[in-house]
Amino acid sequence: MSETGRGVIEPQAAARNLPPVLVWHRRADEYRKLLRQRLPGVPLETCSTGHLPDDARRAEVLLTWTPPPSALDRLPSLRWIHLAGAGADHLLDRDDLDPEVLISKSRGRFGLQAAEYVIGWLLHFLLEIEAYRRDQDRGRWNQRARPLLADATVGVVGLGNVGGTIAERLAGAGAQVLGSCRRSRPMASVAAVWAAGSWREMLPRCDALVLAAPLTEETRGMVDADALAALPDGAILVNVARGGLLVEDDLVAALRNGELRAAVLDAFEEEPLPPDCPLWTEPRVWITPHVAAPSEDDVIADEFADNYRRFLDGQSPEPRVDRTAGY
Ligand code: OXD
Repeated sequence: MSETGRGVIEPQAAARNLPPVLVWHRRADEYRKLLRQRLPGVPLETCSTGHLPDDARRAEVLLTWTPPPSALDRLPSLRWIHLAGAGADHLLDRDDLDPEVLISKSRGRFGLQAAEYVIGWLLHFLLEIEAYRRDQDRGRWNQRARPLLADATVGVVGLGNVGGTIAERLAGAGAQVLGSCRRSRPMASVAAVWAAGSWREMLPRCDALVLAAPLTEETRGMVDADALAALPDGAILVNVARGGLLVEDDLVAALRNGELRAAVLDAFEEEPLPPDCPLWTEPRVWITPHVAAPSEDDVIADEFADNYRRFLDGQSPEPRVDRTAGY
């Protein structure tokens, strides 16, 4: 829908040559309201379907998550894309992406959200919530062991915005946190950090392993049969990152032969998870539909507006996606 047609754009703004923005997103209407408040006078078009309004083709800035195929070819003036989510893997290998276009992604509250998700699930298992429910249903008074998260060692793969916050919150709950990231660097909340090349060395010490790494050529399939076998028996796996980090068949085998206690999976190679995917019916798998760290429109709109002002000032939008690194 053209904002110009509604007379919303102030003439003096157009005169100031503000880069026109296009929001191409399924919640474009919400974003239009939020951005109107935050960036009054900025030329703004929105689109929530494959049909692009003519005026939108002049966009220099795009706020989006997954634009339709070939969509970017229809934006010849594009200079900067801001992604309304945490990852960039779905965009980087597209044929319609111009190598010169800047890409930034969102920080959102993804770290905090994912940390609460991880801690919630780990406590779910440690507290044996389901077993007590079953006991209650049968009228059984059955006292079980009471292991503490504070006594557990948790490995976090990927220590960026999301993984770093997960590590901090786990450490705050008293867990010993180990971590790995592309380039090893010390972090206050992480007892030991391994670089990508040696990450498997931490696995034998991990009661739980949390995947929070971006999906890149290096990380695709990194959690394979050998990695799973290196974890102690009864370890718990939590994936809040991308399905492609895991070799699904190896995971199913490790669960079936009892190597792992549970796998909590929030991200999958194909989403929505196809109805015939064997993971649905694996007793030790817990599936959530990519909800560990959802984009909150108002938070993303704040970040985008800050970045737009930076862009106007000739500064780089943050955090920038490093196309060579792949995230
Ligand atoms: C993601 C997201 O990157 O949903 O997974 O933001």
